[in-house]
Amino acid sequence: DTIRVFAPATVANVVCGFDVLGFAVNEPGDEVVMRLKNRPGITISKITGDDGKLPYNPFKNTVSVSVKHYLDHIGRSDVGLDIELHKKMPIGSGLGSSSASTVAGLFAIKNLLGDTSDPSTLLPFVMKGEEMACGHGHADNVAPALMGGFVLIRSYQPLEVIRLPYPKDLFCAIVFPQVDVPTREARQIIRNKILLKDAVTQWGNIAGLISGLYTNDIELIGRSMEDVLIEPVRAMLIPDFYKLRDIAMKSGAVSFGISGSGPSVFAFAKDPETAKQINQKIQAHLTGIGINSYQYVSSI
Ligand code: HSE
Repeated sequence: DTIRVFAPATVANVVCGFDVLGFAVNEPGDEVVMRLKNRPGITISKITGDDGKLPYNPFKNTVSVSVKHYLDHIGRSDVGLDIELHKKMPIGSGLGSSSASTVAGLFAIKNLLGDTSDPSTLLPFVMKGEEMACGHGHADNVAPALMGGFVLIRSYQPLEVIRLPYPKDLFCAIVFPQVDVPTREARQIIRNKILLKDAVTQWGNIAGLISGLYTNDIELIGRSMEDVLIEPVRAMLIPDFYKLRDIAMKSGAVSFGISGSGPSVFAFAKDPETAKQINQKIQAHLTGIGINSYQYVSSI
C-alpha cells in the first residue's frame, strides 16, 4: 500500500519553443512516498529539502491539490492517503521543480489505485498544479516530466502532446545560479505583442530545431536554438547572462539558453566531459561575481 516515485527535472522552452517544447533530464528530480490509509482524506506527513518553504496544508500544497482533483475526477474522493515529499532539487530554479513533485504525486496515486491508463491521461491534473504554482497552466515542464524525453505541445486547446526523437549523443549542462526568479514574475515581464519579422525568425528556428531532432543534425539543432522573443527580455533576470553564453560557446557548447523561466541556464554538448567543463567555467564565473550556484550534467 506504499509507493515511492521519482520524477525528473525538466528544461522547458528549449530556447526557441516558449511554452511548447521541453525535455526531461536524469537528475535532479523529486521524490514522493505515498501510503493508502483507511480513513478518507489527504495528509502530508513529511516534506524534506524545501527549507521550510512548502505548505503542509493539503489544500495549499500543489501535490495534494492535484491528487485531489484526480481523485474527484475518477469518483474516488473516499480514498485516504498520506504523502511524503522529498525535494531533491532547488525550488524556483527554472528546472520544473513544482512539476516534478506534482507528476510524482499523480503517478503515485495512479499506480496505487491500479489505474493502467496511459500516463498522459494525467496531464490535465498536473497542469492544474502548475497553474496553482505560478498562475499559468503551461505543459512544457509537466509533459516531459510525466512522459520522459523530448516533448512538443502542438496545441493547448485541445491538448495535443507529441513525443519527439532526439540524438542519443546529446548531453545537457545545467547551472542554477542562486538568485530569485519566480516564474509568475518572469512571465509578467514578457511582451504580449511581437513583430511579424521576429515571429518569422522564431518559427523558422522552432521548425529547424524539430527537423534537427528528427535527423540527428546536432549543428542544425545548435543553429536553431535562438530566441528573439523571450530571451532578450528575461536575460536581465540572470546575472551576466550574455557573458555566460560567451563562456559556454567558447567551451564547446552546441547551444546555450535559459532553462524555463530561469534563473537556471543550460547548454547542449556532444559529450559529458564537455558538458562538465562548460558547467565548471560558468560556475567559476558566477563565483567570481559572488553568486553561489549548483550544476548538473545529464543525458536527455
Ligand atoms: N514556458 C514556461 C515559461 C516555463 O517560460 O514561463 C516555466 O518553467
